[in-house]
Order: sequence, then structure tokens, then C-alpha cells
Amino acid sequence: MKHKLSLISLLVLFLTTGLVNAQAPAGKATAFTPGKIWPDNKGVHINAHGGGIIYYKNKYYWFGEHKIAGEAGNSAQVGVHSYSSTDLYNWKDEGIALAVSQDSTNDIAKGCILERPKVVYNKKTGKFVMWFHLELRGKGYSAARAGVAVSDKVTGPFKFIRSYRPNAGKMPFYAAGTPESEKVNCANPAEDDKFFCRDLPGGQMARDMTVFVDDDGKAYHVFSSEENYTLHIAELTDDYTGHTGKFIRVYKGQQTEAPALFKRNGVYYMIGSGCTGWAPNAARWFSAPSIWGPWTHRGNPCTGNGANLTYGGQSTHVLPVQGKKDAFIFMADKWAPKDAIDGRYLWLPITFNGNDISISWKDEWNLSEFN
Ligand code: DGJ
Repeated sequence: MKHKLSLISLLVLFLTTGLVNAQAPAGKATAFTPGKIWPDNKGVHINAHGGGIIYYKNKYYWFGEHKIAGEAGNSAQVGVHSYSSTDLYNWKDEGIALAVSQDSTNDIAKGCILERPKVVYNKKTGKFVMWFHLELRGKGYSAARAGVAVSDKVTGPFKFIRSYRPNAGKMPFYAAGTPESEKVNCANPAEDDKFFCRDLPGGQMARDMTVFVDDDGKAYHVFSSEENYTLHIAELTDDYTGHTGKFIRVYKGQQTEAPALFKRNGVYYMIGSGCTGWAPNAARWFSAPSIWGPWTHRGNPCTGNGANLTYGGQSTHVLPVQGKKDAFIFMADKWAPKDAIDGRYLWLPITFNGNDISISWKDEWNLSEFN
């Protein structure tokens, strides 16, 4: 009897400590539990930070930064990890989609900083295109480049093409009728235009980023530029692997990071964060009638306890749920800079009230939230 009891209590302990999640292949998950360990099909916590998701041939594919343990994990030691899922709760490890290079002279050499990878599918070329924020190895955050890689297969292997600062020598696009006084004048730059003008010859800085594909197939690279002071929304070429030179500057001088863009009923939405390193801050959202603006700052979408710090997270992507109307998931990272691999994922449903959005915390939720 004594023996039997201790076996039962051991089993109870095992089931309640979460060790099951961390060590054994996961059972079928039926809910999101923001901030908790999220085991993949092998029982390993998903390793796809600062990520984004695409839907292709009835499956979702999640791409993100593969982190390793400790502070070293904040630089790229492995590459970009991919996962697939049919239900968004259960994810299959699809391996490394883009590997860092073992050649120390390569732009994406092991030890570089490779952040916020986003993959899009180009219907015209039939290729998958991955953009990411790249910092050259050993150079801190000074390079501020956009990197691009392509693949014939969704899960890779992606082939690195190049990295650069976008839109060298190009001036912003302005809607017809924009007064001259609102346009950048690099002959006599205003305070908020100084970094833009400084970088005009060599290309604009590109750090936190996302890529958005519009209904007409045009793609846009959205990135923190100008020493992180101002966001740029820049059109990509038809094959999605370069910039056309057409772009706008959004929320000048306000330090927006972590942009995530989506569209609903013809309205463009963007959620981002402030700029406080790995520490959380309040999210901010914007809306616009056209990708070219005007973009209006609409405040903090988060509500309730923890809203002033985005519940400890920072936006990375907004995911439209297939087959459901008005169903969008706010995806955020809860960074763990001291042990990068332990970063957690905060996924929360977005609520619409007309064209307003809001987000509130949930310990546990599932897709029936959208019914
Ligand atoms: C905040 C950014 O959003 C992250 O992607 C990363 O660049 C950290 N800053 C680094 O401090």
C-alpha cells in the first residue's frame, strides 16, 4: 500500500510540475497558454523568436530566431528555425530554414545578429523570400542592414543573397498635395530629418522589421530606421528580393520598434513597441486608409493589468487565422536576454470595435474565441 501511494504521488508530481512538457513529446494541445513553455512535436520548447508565420498549402509555417542558452544566445549561433502546424496549437519541428555561415567573412557568419526573420511567398516566381535584420559579427548594432535569402521550398534551405541598407540616394514618397514644408530638405535638415539625410548616400538603417504582402501581390518591408527614431515602409521589387526606392517615413522621431502589419476590411493596421532594448514597454498601434498613409497613431491597444508593458512582451507579427472572419492573433515575444533560449511567446486575440482594436490578457484561450 505504502509503495502504491508513493508511486501515485510521484505521478501527480510529474504531471503537475510541467516537466512532462519540457521533456516528453507533447500530447495534443487544444489551447494557447501565453508565457508558458510551448513544446513542439518532440517535447522541446519552440525555438522561433522574433518570428512570423505564413500560410501555404493548408499549413502554417512559423519562422523565427533560433536561440541558444545563456547570453550568447542573443547572437545567431545557428540560424532561423522553422515549424509547421495545421491547427496553430501543435507545431512540428521542420529544422533550420536558414543556417548561419561557418565562413567568418560571410555577412551571416556564425555570431552575427540575425533578428526578426519574416518569410513571404512570391506567387509570380514561386519562391519563398526571407527578410531579416542583420548586424555583422563583432560590430554590435552598427551595421543596421536588411538581409534577404530565397528558397524553392517553404522550409528551406534558404540561400542567403545579400545584405544592405535600403534606398540609398532615394527621397521619400509624398502623397499629391503634401506641402513643401512637410517634406524632408537635406540642404537644411530639420532635427527629425538629420539621420535620414546623413544616411541618404549610403542607404537607410534597417533594424526591427516585418514584411507585409498586400492583396494585389505587392510586398512591403517595414523597418525601424534612422537610429530607430523613425519607421520606414518601403516597397519591394516584384520578385520581393530588393527595394524599388518608393517608401514613406512614419511616426517621425518617436522610436517605434517591432512593427507588425495587417489589413482588415481595406484598413491597414500596424502594431509596434517603443524602444527599450530587451525590456518590455507599452505597445502602440496605427491605422491608415492606404499603405502609403496617412498613418495615424492610435495609442496602446493593450488593456487591463500589464497593458503598460505589453504583459511583458514585444510585438513580432499579427497572424490572420485562416477560414475565420476578423480573426487575428497578436504575436509577441517575452525576451529572456540572460538565457535567450527561454524566451516565451505571448499570443493573444485581437478584438475589433468598428475600426478600433484592443488586446487583453488571457491565461489560456483557443480559437473559438473568434466565433
Ligand atoms: C529590441 C528589438 O525589438 C529586438 O529585436 C532586439 O533588437 C533588442 N531590442 C536588442 O536589444
